[in-house]
Amino acid sequence: MDTRADFAEDDDPPPPARAPEPSTPMMAQYIEIKAANPDCLLFYRMGDFYEMFFGDAEVASRALGIALTKRGKHQGADIPMCGVPIHAADQYLQKLIALGHRVAVCEQLEDPAEARKRGGKAVVRRDVIRLVTPGTLTEEALLDGRRNNYLAAIARQKGGSAGDTYAIAWIDISTGEFRVAATDGARLAAEVSRIEARELVVPDALYADESLRPLWRSVAAAVTPLSDAFFDGATAEARLAAYFGVRTLDGFGSFGRVELSAAAAALAYVEKTQIRERPRLSPPVAEADGGAMLIDAATRTNLELTATLTGARSGSLLAAIDRTVTAAGARLLARRLAGPSTDPALIDARLDAVGWMLADGARREAIRATLKAAPDIARSLSRLALDRGGPRDLAAIAAGLRSGIAVAARIASDPDVPREIASAAAALAAAPATLVAEIDAALADELPQLKRDGGFVRAGYRAELDEALKLRDDSRKIIASLQSRYAEETAVRALRIKHNNVLGYFIEVGVNAAPPLFQPPLAATYIHRQTLAGAVRFTTTELSALEARIAGAGERALAIELAVFAELAAAVIAAADTIRAVAEALAVIDVAAALATLAEGENYVRPTVDASLAFHIEDGRHPVVEQALRADGAAFVANGADLGPRGGSDAGGIWLVTGPNMAGKSTFLRQNALIAILAQAGSYVPARAAHLGVVDRLFSRVGAADDLARGRSTFMVEMVETAAILNQAGERALVILDEIGRGTATFDGLSIAWAAIEHLHEVNKSRALFATHYHELTALAARLPRLTNVTVRVKEWKGDVIFLHEIVPGAADRSYGIQVARLAGLPPAAVERARAVLRQLEASDRKAPVHALIDDLPLFARAAPPPETDPLREALAALRPDELSPKEALEALYRLKALLPGGGSGPR
Ligand SMILES: Nc1ncnc2c1ncn2[C@@H]1O[C@H](COP(=O)(O)OP(=O)(O)O)[C@@H](O)[C@H]1O
Ligand SMILES: [Mg+2]
Repeated sequence: MDTRADFAEDDDPPPPARAPEPSTPMMAQYIEIKAANPDCLLFYRMGDFYEMFFGDAEVASRALGIALTKRGKHQGADIPMCGVPIHAADQYLQKLIALGHRVAVCEQLEDPAEARKRGGKAVVRRDVIRLVTPGTLTEEALLDGRRNNYLAAIARQKGGSAGDTYAIAWIDISTGEFRVAATDGARLAAEVSRIEARELVVPDALYADESLRPLWRSVAAAVTPLSDAFFDGATAEARLAAYFGVRTLDGFGSFGRVELSAAAAALAYVEKTQIRERPRLSPPVAEADGGAMLIDAATRTNLELTATLTGARSGSLLAAIDRTVTAAGARLLARRLAGPSTDPALIDARLDAVGWMLADGARREAIRATLKAAPDIARSLSRLALDRGGPRDLAAIAAGLRSGIAVAARIASDPDVPREIASAAAALAAAPATLVAEIDAALADELPQLKRDGGFVRAGYRAELDEALKLRDDSRKIIASLQSRYAEETAVRALRIKHNNVLGYFIEVGVNAAPPLFQPPLAATYIHRQTLAGAVRFTTTELSALEARIAGAGERALAIELAVFAELAAAVIAAADTIRAVAEALAVIDVAAALATLAEGENYVRPTVDASLAFHIEDGRHPVVEQALRADGAAFVANGADLGPRGGSDAGGIWLVTGPNMAGKSTFLRQNALIAILAQAGSYVPARAAHLGVVDRLFSRVGAADDLARGRSTFMVEMVETAAILNQAGERALVILDEIGRGTATFDGLSIAWAAIEHLHEVNKSRALFATHYHELTALAARLPRLTNVTVRVKEWKGDVIFLHEIVPGAADRSYGIQVARLAGLPPAAVERARAVLRQLEASDRKAPVHALIDDLPLFARAAPPPETDPLREALAALRPDELSPKEALEALYRLKALLPGGGSGPR
């Protein structure tokens, strides 16, 4: 039972209609603590409840759907109050965090009995022990097991001829992962979207920066501005070194100043929110610049990588390919998919691991069966380190380590294991078996959620514990036997010995049977405690003594259990690095086995990924659409693509895809992007064969996508995104443009699409797929040597159109819009009328002006030289004299000089 009493303090609210009185001592304490945490809802611990008052209570009661009551008065007005019981606090916290609130958890720091000793009006000491924010969660109930929960900090270093540089540091305190990456202004948004942090902390100056506003607004994370002091670059290294107990960070890798600043800020925020407890973090790992394929947020959304356009996980690429059996494996797979590698050697090593798992199905299934039983040890470890762990976390660590040892044994039996598997197996084999044995010996079979509930230490593990429990149980037995003795002694047959939380053990008799107990000789033994309507309650000195023994023994037993817990937790934390290595190795093995299971079940093939510019896919399929069609009993029509350089050129090709609506253009475009992502994530791919030169950056845009949330017209969005591609895509990029130019009048749209294709071909030289309903564009193939026209085949049958979903060379001759409209159920009269209008239009020969264009317009490269940019001016504008040391100023001068046309190393 919850007790909402807070007996040491406030009496009940004063009677109404009294003059305003000063706040009670407790209210004064509340107001002081709340003032120190103005941006958080304050969970104020009172007995078995967290209470909220004033505005917090109003907000929380609405958000949580709980009753708003009142407690006492403040300055003459009722104080609104609501509360949640502590045993259910996690679920309320989860709701509040999901709604974007931050919560400060304020605990009682002493036993109310201690406060009482200081006098009747003394207030229990309390303080905030933790801020709960979206990026700093550790509780199982608050986390999605299959996703990482990152807190990311972004730092900026201004100026220099190369422009501003940025760094992102991200931490998952629930697993201990800590990473840092440097980036620049142009790639910042894409890097942020790769990390998918739940919470972003940025310096005030960056938060207020006009040019970054759209980024803060568009990210799915909660963005928290922080004082610039958190990001102080001068002290960053020292702060990091102090946390990790080292003199310098050199042993962890080399970090630039801006990276140190981001990492130190992320760490400082963790400390600010965790207050007393220090999470066990791995030392920061610097990610190689450009190590991951850059995919901006719009492309991710568009390709439905981890969620569909409607936000559901089901239907996304991740959901379609995830065959992992552990939460840690699922997190690793999601991470690899979000940031596919650009390193062919690393990709190959991962593919080798998948291949090894594929080679022996029986071995793989045995490994997966073992993995299935492995709990999420990384998260249990971090809860134990934060003193939020329970007996089940200890058991989870033991079980996880045991699985690790078992998996290592299975792998060891094969002599030629690929590199990735071998190093994972080595980490697993290093699992501390003695720790497992110790935990197994100490813990009972059934474990409570919380350590304070006790009863988790196995009988026979600690002699003193067994003794204390025996004393308690014996005393209970004696009490049970007392009942019959007292019944005999008093001649009250209905006498019962009972127990409740207020009185403890007591003797209860009916009202009519009570009088003799008040008379000598019984009155000498039976001490009156309470009279109720139907019963009278007594105790005896013997009963009180037994009760004290039971309570004493119980307390002693719990103290021993907690000591056992603390010993085991300390042993676990001492082995934290080894345990974390086991956790990571289990995830690696799970992902390799899962991708092999996927490849086998879905008939995927191993891609070749190298440093060329190839993009050759035979019989490729769309991984998600294929599965969806199969569920409906339909088959997917496979289609190849070849965007590699050919005929002596050294730049990638463009495929211009025409065909009616519903033919399968968008599906084809996306499947090629998804195949590139899968391959570079280290997965087999849905195709008969695939050869890819590493894609360093992927763009995917759909014309006329609605983006009302950001308050821009759809056409504007489309153009902003197209501009980004034409400005940023390089020869290693893969560009997917789906019906760009659709959002405006025909000739406008056609012209824009036309210019975009020419720009991609002549300037960007990227590998690209361009779907369009402007058939006029196919004429460009005559002028652009690396442009290939392909179309999706359809058949006409009795005036209806039949989609074959087959990509073939050539151009669509017509769009079949009217046939599609008919299929969609347009009224027959409207269909007929549309046919007549079309005949009229075609008679007036709409195509003529396009042919004139092709003949009259000079080639793009000649007509429109790449836009004028002046590197010298840009470099000059980027300089910030106030922030330069004399030496830096001199260096800057040299750099500027070098930028002069003919000045030497600078670009033309
Ligand atoms: N290769 C394919 N094999 C089988 N069905 C396909 C294929 N491509 C597309 N489809 C089906 O056709 C529908 C329309 O495809 P979509 O790519 O949206 O066409 P478009 O972009 O040309 O209008 C898809 O929802 C899918 O069910
Ligand atoms: Mg389409």
